[in-house]
Amino acid sequence: MNSLRKVIIPVAGFGTRLLPISKAIPKEMVPVVDRPLIQHVVEEALAAGLNEVILVTRGGKSAVEDHFDAHFELEASLEAKGKEALLNELRAIAPPELKLTVIRQPQALGLGHAVHCAARILDDGEPFAVILPDVLVKPQPGESAVDLGDMVTQWRELRRAQIMVEAVPRAEVQSYGIVDCGGDEPRAGESMAMTGVVEKPAPEVAPSRLSVIGRYILPYRVMTLLEDLPPGAGGEIQLTDAIEAQIRESGDVDAFRMRGRSFDCGQIAGWLQANTLLAREAGYAVDQTGPTDS
Ligand code: G1P
Repeated sequence: MNSLRKVIIPVAGFGTRLLPISKAIPKEMVPVVDRPLIQHVVEEALAAGLNEVILVTRGGKSAVEDHFDAHFELEASLEAKGKEALLNELRAIAPPELKLTVIRQPQALGLGHAVHCAARILDDGEPFAVILPDVLVKPQPGESAVDLGDMVTQWRELRRAQIMVEAVPRAEVQSYGIVDCGGDEPRAGESMAMTGVVEKPAPEVAPSRLSVIGRYILPYRVMTLLEDLPPGAGGEIQLTDAIEAQIRESGDVDAFRMRGRSFDCGQIAGWLQANTLLAREAGYAVDQTGPTDS
């Protein structure tokens, strides 16, 4: 029964940090090398064994769900022209094991509220993962192990919540959820019990430099804790506050320190960096001299 299969991906945000790119295109559809951001993220979920994806969306974002839908006319046309490779690539966007559910967030009340909108899709007592699609998480060059997969393994073995973290400069802590591991830190690829977490603290009061990266594995209880939560940082209902409540209630929450790399594709600099580095690694040579006739 209550095994971990579902992952909630909130995609209802306005993408203000990516404007004007994200004015008419959902920010989750911006390309990172050869596919939209959301496709990278769903591939990460599938690689971690999380095949039931719940998109929490809003009006004006239908391109995100369309991307995972069959495109009958296009497929028929490619088939007629014998373009098998392209056809297979298109069909691989939504492999048979992917089960996609789309629900709406009626009001933008914060990340915690968006996650709670998916509550009715979960069975009573069912654990769930959350992926924030702004942040792209990739293995180090030449490696293939997916950090989220390791978090799933930790959950299955320990039945403790897993929150992905990495260190950021102290000056940047107020952009993130910041975790407290009692003054200690987990090593890369390892988990350590958290004693607290705070959303967007000022640098002088931040308990550490370990930031929450946007990958969570949580017990069902966090969903019920979200129900009665008052607005927190920025006047929004914060997922971080529900996790803090879970720590205080049962203490069964771990920080998992990533081994891979993260790119904040919700803002221009991080998105460009992801495209530049990952394009080079994928073998796309950028010709600085311009096109030639050869
Ligand atoms: C959200 C979370 C924050 C986390 C961050 C990661 O903040 O609330 O805890 O560190 O994502 O990107 P947001 O970026 O939506 O303000």
